[in-house]
Amino acid sequence: MKGIILAAGSGTRLYPASLPISKILLPVYDKPMIYYPITTLMLAGIKDILIITNPKDTDNFKRVLGDGSQLGIKFSYAIQEIPKGIAESFIIGEEFIGDDPVALILGDNIFHGFGFSTMLKMTGLRTNGATIFGYRVKDPERFGVVEFDNKGKAVSIEEKPKNPKSDFAVTGLYFYDNNAVKYAKSLKPSDRGELEITDLNKIYLNENKLKVEILGRGFAWLDTGTFESLLQASNFVQSMEINTGMKIACVEEVAYRMGYISKDNLKELSKNYKNGYGEYLQRIVKRN
Ligand code: G1P
Repeated sequence: MKGIILAAGSGTRLYPASLPISKILLPVYDKPMIYYPITTLMLAGIKDILIITNPKDTDNFKRVLGDGSQLGIKFSYAIQEIPKGIAESFIIGEEFIGDDPVALILGDNIFHGFGFSTMLKMTGLRTNGATIFGYRVKDPERFGVVEFDNKGKAVSIEEKPKNPKSDFAVTGLYFYDNNAVKYAKSLKPSDRGELEITDLNKIYLNENKLKVEILGRGFAWLDTGTFESLLQASNFVQSMEINTGMKIACVEEVAYRMGYISKDNLKELSKNYKNGYGEYLQRIVKRN
């Protein structure tokens, strides 16, 4: 399975904070925001990741992440010239995806919760149809919204409905079989001029091939779209990390735990950071 991170937004809602650099590279507590979606894909067993950026920020992403070999994985880069919608990722990434199934995650989506790795691993093994994740929110009108029947089966999906049929938002993490490329090409731009991921999901829903996993109340799906929510995300990560002594979305640790790099590799990587982050990596080396 291939993975795509859509990191092309200009983050205007966070200006001037995100004027110097892409929002997706801003820190969420102790690491760049993109570490969170990267580790989500890695935990799903994905080692081949395409990062879609806007033309202005590509070099910064390359400088921070390189080709991925340091983590035993592979990063490639592509550009979305103008924001033409999330579903355009599959058109931009057509060659990269080839004949494989593909997972897509939005660069600013942060997930954390018990059992998430197992859920990701299982989802990563599914190669037929699509899987999306629903999460109960207080303001569903801001998102794609999925409605269920009384047996818990998804019956409708709407993009930012004025009158939401449920409180379940569709999060920015999507797994598709290879038909996603073909389906994305068949989409027409919406009123806001975008190829909507919701329209792609509707195709799978109509084909009876859409699985919606619910992320329960023990899960955190964090928003980073406003000054307040970005700070809250940092505070959440800090509080979790301090309380548990474990880091969230530490790419080096995940690479090691997934078996993508050796203990010696991890030891070498720990030397890049002469601070608490480096000490944490050294602790992981010693603990195992
Ligand atoms: C996008 C999707 C929406 C989804 C949301 C998750 O919204 O269109 O369906 O619920 O991401 O973050 P947008 O970022 O385009 O407002």
